[in-house]
Amino acid sequence: MSAITVEGVSKVFAGASGQSMLALSDVTLDIADGEFVVLLGPSGCGKTTLLRIIGELESPTTGRVLRDHGGQTAGAEKPLGFVFQEATLMPWRSTAANVALPLEMAGVGRRERMARVREMLTLVGLAEAEEKYPHQLSGGMRQRVSIARALAHDPKILLMDEPFGALDAQTRDTMNVELQRIWLETRKTVVFVTHSVSEAVFLADRIVMLGTKPGHIHSITEVTLPRPRTVDMTESAEFRHLAAELRRQIGEVQDTEARPALSA
Ligand SMILES: Nc1ncnc2c1ncn2[C@@H]1O[C@H](COP(=O)(O)OP(=O)(O)OP(=O)(O)O)[C@@H](O)[C@H]1O
Ligand SMILES: [Mg+2]
Repeated sequence: MSAITVEGVSKVFAGASGQSMLALSDVTLDIADGEFVVLLGPSGCGKTTLLRIIGELESPTTGRVLRDHGGQTAGAEKPLGFVFQEATLMPWRSTAANVALPLEMAGVGRRERMARVREMLTLVGLAEAEEKYPHQLSGGMRQRVSIARALAHDPKILLMDEPFGALDAQTRDTMNVELQRIWLETRKTVVFVTHSVSEAVFLADRIVMLGTKPGHIHSITEVTLPRPRTVDMTESAEFRHLAAELRRQIGEVQDTEARPALSA
């Protein structure tokens, strides 16, 4: 079974003045267990909406999402990890206490909690920073804490919405390398949203390009570059060729005029 199955999902939002707005139209997508899928597309095409529907933070208007958590039933806690653009850490909690939060909420005992927190902070390269507070960390470090927190309860699925969008280009490159390493070590199923073509090509097994008006799947591109990928590889002919093709497609979907909601 796939880790995530999205079947005929559409989403209508009620606009401010009462008229309804079709944000997503008939999205169907299968995501394999352990796959790294990137949702790419211009602003407003529905990337966040689709991610939130996959994560059950939002319900679809029509269609459905099935998720296979491999038998995990973590009580009321959904076995999903979320990382957003802003780190959303609790400022009054230390790094370790932030990572421990989902474990506390799931009722995990103190000894196990502390072991798990240490393991996660080591995984994200922050073992030394466990006593620091969020304001003492750089933006990249804060996002590492967010990733550690999202992975703390060992979800099978990790959902990430532009997690590195607020970082400078160089830190972002480093974080992409780090995320790839973490993914290779943990083999989570990842759905990752970005505006950035090069970030998408660097990270993805498959890139799902969304178009606008209404949000729909425009294309799906497999990225066959070998792993682990390195920053040097972003200069390779294959990488650049793929990135150029995706940029061309973004130009295409941005320029598309309103299309009928359910045309093929
Ligand atoms: N809660 C909401 N109520 C009404 N409209 C919404 C809501 N959330 C999103 N929308 C609309 O749905 C469309 C898709 O929004 P969404 O945030 O999913 O796009 P996005 O691809 O994530 O954009 P960005 O790249 O700018 O983050 C937009 O037109 C947006 O205005
Ligand atoms: Mg968004």
